[in-house]
Amino acid sequence: MSISKKEFKRVTVKSLMDMKKRGEKISMLTAYDFSMARIIDNANVDIILVGDSASNVMAGHETTLPITLDQMIYHASSVIRAANRALVVVDIPFGSYQSDPKEALRSAIRIMKESGAHAVKVEGGIEIKESVKRILNAGIPVMGHLGLTPQAIYKFGSYSVRAKETEEAKKLIEDAKLLERLGCFAIVLEKIPASLTKKVSEELTIPTIGIGGGKFADGQVLVIHDLLGMTHEFNPRFLRRYMNLYEDMGNAISQYVKDVKSQDFPNEEEQY
Ligand code: KIV
Repeated sequence: MSISKKEFKRVTVKSLMDMKKRGEKISMLTAYDFSMARIIDNANVDIILVGDSASNVMAGHETTLPITLDQMIYHASSVIRAANRALVVVDIPFGSYQSDPKEALRSAIRIMKESGAHAVKVEGGIEIKESVKRILNAGIPVMGHLGLTPQAIYKFGSYSVRAKETEEAKKLIEDAKLLERLGCFAIVLEKIPASLTKKVSEELTIPTIGIGGGKFADGQVLVIHDLLGMTHEFNPRFLRRYMNLYEDMGNAISQYVKDVKSQDFPNEEEQY
């Protein structure tokens, strides 16, 4: 059954804050296209993230760096057309906000205007303070992203757990508090120790959304292709697979090939 616009009120940045206050966990998943976003929205996921992980799972790149602003806007517009209830957040891609706050604002405005999204997400803390401020001053809600920040993969050199050492953990806490002070409405905490997620989540009034950050985050996010088992070669400890679509889809498609070859498909009922 599909959900009409009238049946559900849209999740807002304010309702997410209220969820944190009353201890209700927030669900977030990625989507990059209309059909997947419609299924996710109908399943009552609170936030749909049009992640720059589209660069990996949709385009087959090794990192998130190559995806462009135009490509993110294309994915976001497709998702927005399907999302009646979820808040839709869009990653500003690498190279479109780090160099200069004015460019950051221009990129955020393009995403909001051209896709109809509800908020943007950026990676980093103090280093991008001025860009975050500029975007927020224009009235655009910003979600932060700390810990493992894939746009900085070449600086770190690996996708291993972050902020295990005291110094890095201290900086992460300071960055999280800074993002909250600036006015961000939530922060993704990626691949950090559960104890650090707990500390940050307790010290902030805005929600934290974990991915590989353990159970103490105020919400959880996964890449939809990982949850559905489409990316069978990706096996991090934090991932819970709810399906094995790589195998199931492969089997279905092989069966289709067999049916075409054997002339079983189409049959009498499947033709005009
Ligand atoms: O791009 C993405 O999918 C993300 C999530 C992993 C949080 O940033």
